[in-house]
Amino acid sequence: MDMAAPAAGTDTEFWSSVSDHVLRYGPRFEQRVIGRAEGSYVYDLAGQPILDFTSGQMSAVLGHSHPDIVRTVRDQIGRLDHLFSGMLSLPVVELSKRLGSLVPGLEKVLLLSTGAESNEAALRLAKIVTGKYEVVAFSRSWHGMTGGAAAATYSTSRRGYGPAAVGSFAIPAPNPYRPRFTHADGSLDWQTELDDAFALVDSQSTGNLAAFIAEPILSSGGIIELPLGYLAALRKKCDERGMLLILDEAQTGVGRTGHMFAFQRDGVTPDILTLSKTLGAGLPLSAVLTSRAIEERAHELGFVFLTTHVSDPLPAAVGLTVMDVIERDGLIERARVAGARLRAGLEALQQRFEGIGDVRGRGLLLGIEIVTDRASRRPDLALGDRIGAEAMNRGLSMNIVKLPAMGSVFRIAPPLTATDAEIDRGLEIMGEAIEAARR
Ligand SMILES: Cc1ncc(COP(=O)(O)O)c(C=O)c1O
Repeated sequence: MDMAAPAAGTDTEFWSSVSDHVLRYGPRFEQRVIGRAEGSYVYDLAGQPILDFTSGQMSAVLGHSHPDIVRTVRDQIGRLDHLFSGMLSLPVVELSKRLGSLVPGLEKVLLLSTGAESNEAALRLAKIVTGKYEVVAFSRSWHGMTGGAAAATYSTSRRGYGPAAVGSFAIPAPNPYRPRFTHADGSLDWQTELDDAFALVDSQSTGNLAAFIAEPILSSGGIIELPLGYLAALRKKCDERGMLLILDEAQTGVGRTGHMFAFQRDGVTPDILTLSKTLGAGLPLSAVLTSRAIEERAHELGFVFLTTHVSDPLPAAVGLTVMDVIERDGLIERARVAGARLRAGLEALQQRFEGIGDVRGRGLLLGIEIVTDRASRRPDLALGDRIGAEAMNRGLSMNIVKLPAMGSVFRIAPPLTATDAEIDRGLEIMGEAIEAARR
């Protein structure tokens, strides 16, 4: 089939090829087939624009086919693409220097390809340095689909694949909309929840706690933001037990929340930071950052994390361009400003529609939770589904998280390059979609 110029009427052939040859890997496939993408839009084969409020898979912070990224890829691939894993190159060392100069205490950088891979490397670092192996994560976490990362992923897909890593523990993430522990006024008492959770961890641990791995905003878990103060309290729990704190900023890193990294709001530095999705702005690039002391100790102990694409020059050059554009175009500040506009619009929709139970998140990583009514806060999965479909019909792609105990939450994360007009148009479509879905 000629992918460049799909002929009209290939629909049946296309879907029969899908049915015959594409291995189903989880999501229900979108019926509109995408032919190209540019800026905040993807276009189906008929040329119909669809506003992409999920930034691809929560990654395209610069929108699609950003001219600077296109230029970098074209230029770099013609000069230096991929190398033997033990060879270094200028883009790799420059990106390591650039990332390693951002936060004191996170100077050493390893460049990899995917989010799961970066978390595997982070967990292996924590294990070798502490000499321990138990890993704690949030019960709604998503850290990736490979062995160690999947063992620390609790939001989905644990059944059917045999044993997870020995020493995998989960604690509940603090959820202000559905608090498990409350103060007298009904608000979330996260400190008591955290104390309670760690008492359970301690009772199960065999004395081998190596690391806690956390997203500062649990994204796949339903846009659950760790309240201010929580990360510092979690850091203390880790320090008391000699565990390392790993923060996974796959989605929150590189400006999306209005800081370069989400943890900077809290004034807490992790022992290990992982970046992925947003770092390559949609191309496969990830990074692990840690302190000189941890890197030194790991090296002494013989740390190895060797992959085919470790330190590849092409994605590193892309990462450098992403950092350049983020800085040059003031996109961290833009995430704050555009995020405030989007949030105000979502709150206005919440005033109009009883079905929007909660609006939450930070910067341009926002969530709206769809409920049957405000009093019960019962998730309305069917309404969420209809809203998603109505939005798509009108040209807006929004991703919904549907986890049994988590509710029905739209993750709204437009590119940081989205214009005010695009944000307003997205809000307008959302309003029409909710209206239509209620009928
Ligand atoms: C927070 C977080 N960490 C890690 C991953 C895994 O990244 P990848 O799919 O690139 O392996 C994801 C993917 O959705 C994620 O959201």
